[in-house]
Amino acid sequence: MSRGTDPRATDWSNESAQGWTLHHYPLTASTNLLAANLGPWQAVRADVQTAGRGRFQRTWVSDEGGLWLSAVLPIGSGPEWRALPLTAGLAVCTVLNRLGVQHLRMRWPNDILVENRKVCGLLLDQFVPGLAVVGIGLNVANRPEARDASLRGQVTRLADLVPSGPSLPELQGLLLSELRSVWTRMNSSGFGGLLPEVNRLWGPPRAVELDLDGQLCQGEFKCVDERGRLILTDISGGEKRFEPHQVRHLREI
Ligand code: BTN
Repeated sequence: MSRGTDPRATDWSNESAQGWTLHHYPLTASTNLLAANLGPWQAVRADVQTAGRGRFQRTWVSDEGGLWLSAVLPIGSGPEWRALPLTAGLAVCTVLNRLGVQHLRMRWPNDILVENRKVCGLLLDQFVPGLAVVGIGLNVANRPEARDASLRGQVTRLADLVPSGPSLPELQGLLLSELRSVWTRMNSSGFGGLLPEVNRLWGPPRAVELDLDGQLCQGEFKCVDERGRLILTDISGGEKRFEPHQVRHLREI
């Protein structure tokens, strides 16, 4: 049934990305690389990425039907801006939550999962001082598992979670509006003001193993601090804090 005739369907079409300049490409290597040349409050979306980039030079499957979006945000120079990846994660979770996605959680620093399957990944780049590129890869109606067999059982898609969800342009509008709104809050009251909301997104405390570029480190993860650093508690109660760039991989054990 089309959205036009289904009385239960929500109309998302009024969601525009106010205050943003939008660019759209059918095909590009990576929207984050295109955004490297854009100014603040500009965003670029592609239908397909041929060389989608994940964290630590991993490839990101970016087939047709997914949302591949990069948004350029102004940032300050203080250490609290290092928490922007978590702020962006909060924006994505807020939108998915409003769309009715259940069992949503974040895996530090910026994977968004439904139960144990990844629905969205974020990649933050800084190409020039004062501007951050927030790259959002959201599986919607694309088929990542068909593209990469190693993703079987590891990923999920919005189309399988929400019946009659928004179109890709509507999703883009919802995400960019929310991104601006969390940015405004962070800019006026710092990351501390968002911390309780962010810390609610990790779910219950869990045992994790961190790959610190070869060196492994285990402990319990419960929450992040006011700079977005992961707080790892070991069995003797000792505490270590890690920035996202220090951790190549976090494995839940
Ligand atoms: C990850 O989980 O490792 C991060 C994945 C980020 C993918 C998005 S898709 C839009 C933007 N362009 C890219 O090349 N990567 C990000």
